[in-house]
Amino acid sequence: MLLSPELNLTLRPMQYPQFFKLYKDSIKNIWTTEEIDFSIDYEHLRDKLNPKEAHLVKRLVAFFATADNLVAHNLVLNFYKHINSPEYRMFLGKQLFDEMLHVETYLLLVDNYLPDLAERSEAFDAYKNIPSVKLKADFCFKYMDSINNLDRLSSTQKRQQFVENLICFASCVEGLFFFGSFAYVYFLRNKGLLPGLATATNWVFRDETMHIEAAMQAIQAIRNEYPELFTKELEERVEAMIEEAIEVEMAFCEDVLTFGVSGLSPKLMKEYLCYCADQRLVQLGMNKKYFAKNPFPFMVLQDVQPLTNFFEKRVTEYQKGFGASKESVVFNESF
Ligand SMILES: [Fe+2]
Ligand SMILES: [Fe+2]
Repeated sequence: MLLSPELNLTLRPMQYPQFFKLYKDSIKNIWTTEEIDFSIDYEHLRDKLNPKEAHLVKRLVAFFATADNLVAHNLVLNFYKHINSPEYRMFLGKQLFDEMLHVETYLLLVDNYLPDLAERSEAFDAYKNIPSVKLKADFCFKYMDSINNLDRLSSTQKRQQFVENLICFASCVEGLFFFGSFAYVYFLRNKGLLPGLATATNWVFRDETMHIEAAMQAIQAIRNEYPELFTKELEERVEAMIEEAIEVEMAFCEDVLTFGVSGLSPKLMKEYLCYCADQRLVQLGMNKKYFAKNPFPFMVLQDVQPLTNFFEKRVTEYQKGFGASKESVVFNESF
């Protein structure tokens, strides 16, 4: 069983082919930071961004500087430890590589966007010192620390605690915190700003979509094997967790938009987060709660275009390198 406190190493007969398929799909999507070009961004930062937009970007960089490392840390300490499927561990191996690639991407972002050494270290310390970034990190630590001492999932209560951690990182951290930040990036892209960051975000966005999809499939499998875990109380806790994640992300939004940015508002961002939250609830097998509409046309385009653009640009390299075809790659509804 998926949450048995033991180490299953048997891949034949394959018990969870869906996770092996996710692994195979995910290794078709390999990119490197050498393909990202921040040179035009540098000119935009110097000549085009107004001070209000510059503040927004500074906060985004501060969030991105450490966020993927946190996700990776939880993946290794908790997901990898407790999900008893060699197929899922293969996917997690690739996810860990993705997260390190994201860490490297945002290191490059810090180096390019913040030439001043003091500003660089301020970005890396933001999770401790900038209140709106700290709130997000503290939210992650709360769910990470809550299962710190969980060695063996030997009871229903312990399995529920682990499931909450899994749901937290998929739905709230990757599924809301990151999606909120992607929306700011695509808002800027829509204004013709920061094409390097937009390109990097296309690739990170696609990876995150896959990480969320894999975790949701794991949760679905756990739900099938352990229906007793998904009590009304657990679902209420998940709803409260998502509500809290929206509040935390909105505190970040208030900070990001402190000086006002024309075309964006906390009200619109709240609606977007509620729209994302409903998607996560449905993915979790729960009912929608917010019934919000996507208020950002540039994110609607994001839902359908990047894959096409990505493959138009890179399909040749992909076919050469990995024998991949456009049709053989599986993505979730975001693409
Ligand atoms: Fe990531
Ligand atoms: Fe991720």
